[in-house]
Amino acid sequence: MEDFTDTVFRRVVAQSGRPDLWFTEFLRVDVATWAGETPSRLRFEATERPIIAQVWGRNADEFEPACTAIERLGFDGIDINMGCAVRKILRTGAGAALIGNEPLASGIIAAARRGTSLPISVKTRLADDWAGTSRWCRFLFDQGIAALTVHARRVADTFSGHADWRRIAQIVRIQHAAGTRCAVIGNGDVRNRAHALRLAEHTGVDGVMVGRGAVQNPAFFARLSEVSPASRAERIANLISHARVYRTTWGNRRKVRVFRKYVGSHIHGYPGWRSDTKRLYGAESYEEFFAVAETISREAMT
Ligand SMILES: Cc1cc2nc3c(=O)[nH]c(=O)nc-3n(C[C@H](O)[C@H](O)[C@H](O)COP(=O)(O)O)c2cc1C
Repeated sequence: MEDFTDTVFRRVVAQSGRPDLWFTEFLRVDVATWAGETPSRLRFEATERPIIAQVWGRNADEFEPACTAIERLGFDGIDINMGCAVRKILRTGAGAALIGNEPLASGIIAAARRGTSLPISVKTRLADDWAGTSRWCRFLFDQGIAALTVHARRVADTFSGHADWRRIAQIVRIQHAAGTRCAVIGNGDVRNRAHALRLAEHTGVDGVMVGRGAVQNPAFFARLSEVSPASRAERIANLISHARVYRTTWGNRRKVRVFRKYVGSHIHGYPGWRSDTKRLYGAESYEEFFAVAETISREAMT
């Protein structure tokens, strides 16, 4: 997820339990071939493998060199975003604007394949109507992709309403009928393990993708039997340790104002968390932030 699930956050999540597979934040496809430092969105450590790099774009020619460059970085696969409904992406003709544009989508997938021998997958959304969705998914299953992730909302829904898991079940049936070897990954509104199991049971998907559930609760992947709700002191300690690695990794490029979006991820929910959040948001530098967090930590232990 853009601006959230960077290499640091992924490692924070993995401390309590990790998914089988990570996907990076999406990257504009041409950025992968820029000379110089590895784009920050493509940074990862070996412990994060298997990891898939996600790219977005609409110019098929850019996908071949980008996929070659991504393979060289050691990724395990490349995911093409054909589902993002954010206006600035749609306006470029990429993301969910590709839904139904079969000539362009097949050109992009073919170009990606020319650039790499890694598995290629696609993430998409529902089309405006069921006829469009089933046509689009049938088309994608014909492209020889390794996996299709479906966020079960239409473009017009953006993030409102509920993800329609019934559509995911129908798409799984289309995949079975197509007889190709493409894994179907369901996505949308999975907030805890029980939701993930329910989605898998109701739809027959091969996998479940978790987005906001992990951002709201970095311990999402902990095994249920092993977790008791973390105390205020433990959560502040997790926040401090996350902030330390974040600052070491990103330095001045990402100041505390950028980091503080993670405050809620760690401390949301305990009595008084709102007032602690307000105090932490008042910090204008990492020094101030650590000082406030250490004070809260001492209060939590008395
Ligand atoms: C802040 C934010 C950033 C996101 N960034 C990406 C992205 O980079 N690539 C992508 O495929 N989806 C992205 N998404 C969509 C999520 O991956 C996911 O499809 C959607 O949030 C529904 O799943 P969830 O309910 O588990 O969050 C983003 C969503 C949010 C809220």
